[in-house]
Amino acid sequence: MFLFRYCSERNLAVNPQGGNTGLVGGSVPVFDEIILSMALMNQIISFNSVSGILICQAGCILENLSQYLESMDFTMPLDLGAKGSCHIGGNVATNAGGLRVLRYGSLRGTVLGLEVVLADGSILNCLASLQKDNTGYDLKQLFIGSEGTLGVITTVSILCPQKPKAVNLAFLGCPGFSQVLETFTTCRGMLGEILSAYEFMDDKSMKLVESHLKLSNPVTGSPFYVLIETSGSNSAHDEEKLNHFLEQAMTSGLVMDGTVVTEDKRIKALWALRERITEALTHDGYVYKYDISLPVKRLYDLVTDTRERLGRSAKNVVGYGHLGDGNLHLNITAESYSHSLLEAIEPFVYEWTAQYQVSISAEHGLGFKKKHYIHYSKPREAVHLMQKFKAMLDPKGILNPYKTLPASSL
Ligand code: FAD
Ligand code: MLT
Ligand code: ZN
Repeated sequence: MFLFRYCSERNLAVNPQGGNTGLVGGSVPVFDEIILSMALMNQIISFNSVSGILICQAGCILENLSQYLESMDFTMPLDLGAKGSCHIGGNVATNAGGLRVLRYGSLRGTVLGLEVVLADGSILNCLASLQKDNTGYDLKQLFIGSEGTLGVITTVSILCPQKPKAVNLAFLGCPGFSQVLETFTTCRGMLGEILSAYEFMDDKSMKLVESHLKLSNPVTGSPFYVLIETSGSNSAHDEEKLNHFLEQAMTSGLVMDGTVVTEDKRIKALWALRERITEALTHDGYVYKYDISLPVKRLYDLVTDTRERLGRSAKNVVGYGHLGDGNLHLNITAESYSHSLLEAIEPFVYEWTAQYQVSISAEHGLGFKKKHYIHYSKPREAVHLMQKFKAMLDPKGILNPYKTLPASSL
């Protein structure tokens, strides 16, 4: 690519930018980087309705791809609240998780191939759309989740599932977090292969959505809420299974109240309660955001410990997330940014996380905001090897510098 040859010869740094929805500052230049917007690379190249393989340019907006596929009875294997703006290239570059990981796995499995422009301007074509290919190292994996620091993703080949014929969504209130966990194990056992999402939100998250966005919660008065989605091919069979599960959950006291919807419009409205928490938080003040992977049993302990530690110095401490994947989103709001509040939160949150040897970034990446905390989740040797990869692929350090990795050895 001409731009890269030009930049490489002149030592000009480049910041690839997709839909700019990333939550850790990866798409935002720090000093004088040139912003490389991928927005005009938005063409669908091909779709094979037998294999389900979609090949498209990196700047395609996720929601546009979903709509295109849905017209052919297929769907994207990923979905997230930022779907209306984020690009598939940005999703791959961040290895975005989202709401469907429980069912379709991560992009590390569904992305079959990539075309990438390297820092010297050469084009790496790893676009072969094969589900099985063990010839040498799987190079595309290096670029998935590399946040634009190793190459610019220009084309993506992705395996898309058939659109489920029957979708049900249950929104339930639970009396405590232990019931949220027990409901999860119960529904995993009873719904089996039709379970496609299990998300949880605490009461405080819901209050923010209600007060700032004026969305109405159909099941009020519970300390926790869960969204359970089923996706299958036989509505009568799926509904029977779901009803059986709900009966069991209600009679055993796991669930206090709830509602189930099957109509597309109502499904979207219920999902909005979960998907728009991020937006509601931004209306609440300055937001300190954390995205932690940890054993599900411990998932909410970090929220209660943080709440207790911060007391009245925080406006709200809320927890929600992809419980089915062991992924907590801990968010703390304050009227405005406060350095002393930040000092009370960090490194506390990272140290708390490190005691369980889990991840300080489950799905959002490290970007600019979290690169210095990588050592809480990765050993020194691993970080060192990552720095060697970076130096090999981008010897002049022109690709999204100041992101993902600390500059020197730890
Ligand atoms: P950008 O924000 O533009 O960029 C993100 C990073 O990728 C940057 O480092 C950038 O340099 C790099 N990049 C972008 N495009 C390319 C490219 N073509 N080649 C190389 N590098 C590139 N994340 C989740 O994982 N799960 C969620 O459920 C989720 N929900 C969200 C909900 C909301 C409301 C919002 C605002 C964000 C959410 N996110 C979520 C964050 C998520 O990372 C992004 O939404 C998305 O994956 C980033 O895509 P983007 O196109 O906006 O990338
Ligand atoms: C989500 O699951 O809603 C996203 O990852 C965004 C967020 O954490 O705010
Ligand atoms: Zn998330």
